[in-house]
Amino acid sequence: MSAPSYSIPGSTPAAAVSSAAPAATEKPSDNTSGARSVAEVLEGSQVEAVLQELDRDLVGLVPVKARIRDIAALLVIDKLRVNLGLTSQAPSLHMCFSGNPGTGKTTVASRMAQILHRLGFVRKGHLVSVTRDDLVGQYIGHTAPKTKEVLKRAMGGVLFIDEAYYLYRPENERDYGQEAIEILLQVMENQRDDLVVILAGYKDRMDTFFQSNPGMSSRIAHHLDFPDYAVGELLHIAGMTLAQQNYRFGEGAQAAFERYLGLRVVQPHFANARSVRNALDRARLRQASRLFADRQRILSADDLTTIEAADILASRVFQTN
Ligand SMILES: Nc1ncnc2c1ncn2[C@@H]1O[C@H](COP(=O)(O)OP(=O)(O)OP(=O)(O)O)[C@@H](O)[C@H]1O
Ligand SMILES: [Mg+2]
Repeated sequence: MSAPSYSIPGSTPAAAVSSAAPAATEKPSDNTSGARSVAEVLEGSQVEAVLQELDRDLVGLVPVKARIRDIAALLVIDKLRVNLGLTSQAPSLHMCFSGNPGTGKTTVASRMAQILHRLGFVRKGHLVSVTRDDLVGQYIGHTAPKTKEVLKRAMGGVLFIDEAYYLYRPENERDYGQEAIEILLQVMENQRDDLVVILAGYKDRMDTFFQSNPGMSSRIAHHLDFPDYAVGELLHIAGMTLAQQNYRFGEGAQAAFERYLGLRVVQPHFANARSVRNALDRARLRQASRLFADRQRILSADDLTTIEAADILASRVFQTN
């Protein structure tokens, strides 16, 4: 086949690596090269620590966590096979994360990047998160350079394409998204030893996208579904988020927030954990206004860290009806 070969500069280990990648640790993870047992790979790679953090930091997501463990197992075994010379080709690791907004897709993707890096499947382990507008140009000739620039930045790590289905617009015959898809397909095949692509978005739209793009579908090895959180899980996320910011719910505030969630989850544009974060941001704003109003009062640590029920109950959510 005489298809053009899109070779992305910076994709070979010998080439200079861009320093633009945030949080990219540059060490090659080859401290597992002599490993003969699962324990030795886990020890050498420190992957277990990432898995434990994932369990600890993320509430719920039981099926997702199980799939991540399965993928980690696959990677560890692949490592052992490489060490014995039994594997010649890098495994296909491209993934699809489907789920509603705020269900933890981006967060889990960056943990996945860490796991891949620690096991040496990517050189740097950073996450480059993009949407259609970062890949597709407005005019003829603009798309290929844009897509290649993004790929160059992502090399050695994970390219996370949010709402990936927007790349494909069947209603527009000459849409440049198709060009981006073709470049991605080629790089996903040819440079899979140094780049993992994760496509993310709503489940039904992802399914439709894959039906119309069998080439993309066939390159995705792992599909992970992110379920919506139950109210109890959202409440747990709220408690954890507040603790991280050195706040806490005061008397009755947690019950108020549970009522808030019960009303909010059925409203439009509810975005799971993201909505919890936003609601807590607004509660902190109200707490600040409440404390600010009393100029003379000496404020204790308790005053400054407590979100009162009133700070929750002032939300608009309680006013409709
Ligand atoms: N299970 C969880 N436990 C604790 N915090 C979570 C959990 N899931 C998500 N969050 C927090 O909620 C916020 C949104 O998560 P994230 O951005 O990963 O979701 P997303 O699925 O990528 O959402 P979007 O579709 O809106 O991009 C983040 O601040 C994240 O830390
Ligand atoms: Mg996201």
